[in-house]
Amino acid sequence: MSPPRYRSHGSGRVARSDLGSCPESVVLEEGVLIFHPENVYLGEDVYVGHHAQLKGYFKNALRIGRGTWIGQAAFLHAAGGITIGEDVGIGPHVCILTSSHVLPARPTGPAAPPASGPEKDLPILRRPLTFAPVTLEAGCDIGVGAIILPGVTVGHLAQVGAGAVVTADVPPRTIVAGNPARPLRTI
Ligand SMILES: CC(C)(COP(=O)(O)OP(=O)(O)OC[C@H]1O[C@@H](n2cnc3c(N)ncnc32)[C@H](O)[C@@H]1OP(=O)(O)O)[C@@H](O)C(=O)NCCC(=O)NCCS
Repeated sequence: MSPPRYRSHGSGRVARSDLGSCPESVVLEEGVLIFHPENVYLGEDVYVGHHAQLKGYFKNALRIGRGTWIGQAAFLHAAGGITIGEDVGIGPHVCILTSSHVLPARPTGPAAPPASGPEKDLPILRRPLTFAPVTLEAGCDIGVGAIILPGVTVGHLAQVGAGAVVTADVPPRTIVAGNPARPLRTI
């Protein structure tokens, strides 16, 4: 019999003392789940809403700056590293992603050859992962349900609209919205 393919990640219910840092002023609401807590660093006065998931990883860090507010059921997956500055707002159900499975290079023209190589017939799920960090600079705000894709930086005092899919960096003091997120105006 082959060994099971998957193993449990555990319950995600941890003691505050398990975290890399978790000052007394941090609020962790009921139902918050934290994985690899040793790589999760929370600053003073951070608020983490009900049922949010802070998915640390065995490498890289999830760092959340002083005064940041994380809404209910937000999902932060820090495999590639997440750095969040001070006083950032993260709406309920926001997803922050930092890894993807490797895909063939984008075709460069109409006659581009089909994908080749040993991985071309592998299910996407079984292909190697690539990692890219996400940074949310101080004072920015991420609207409800937005998705931040790997490698993105959201600039100082920028606003991401509700439901946006953010595929590229957002300059400071810029509002973006939509899928893919596009700049609306500067503030
Ligand atoms: C994007 C947002 C910040 C408004 O920015 P704004 O520059 O004042 O935008 P406006 O309301 O003037 O709308 C400008 C255009 O963007 C569109 N728009 C506004 N919000 C949008 C959104 N979230 N997604 C897609 N399009 C949006 C408007 O329909 C309008 O389109 P039009 O020019 O075709 O009429 C706001 O709509 C938003 O999404 N806020 C986030 C709210 C939230 O999640 N709060 C968290 C609470 S915890």
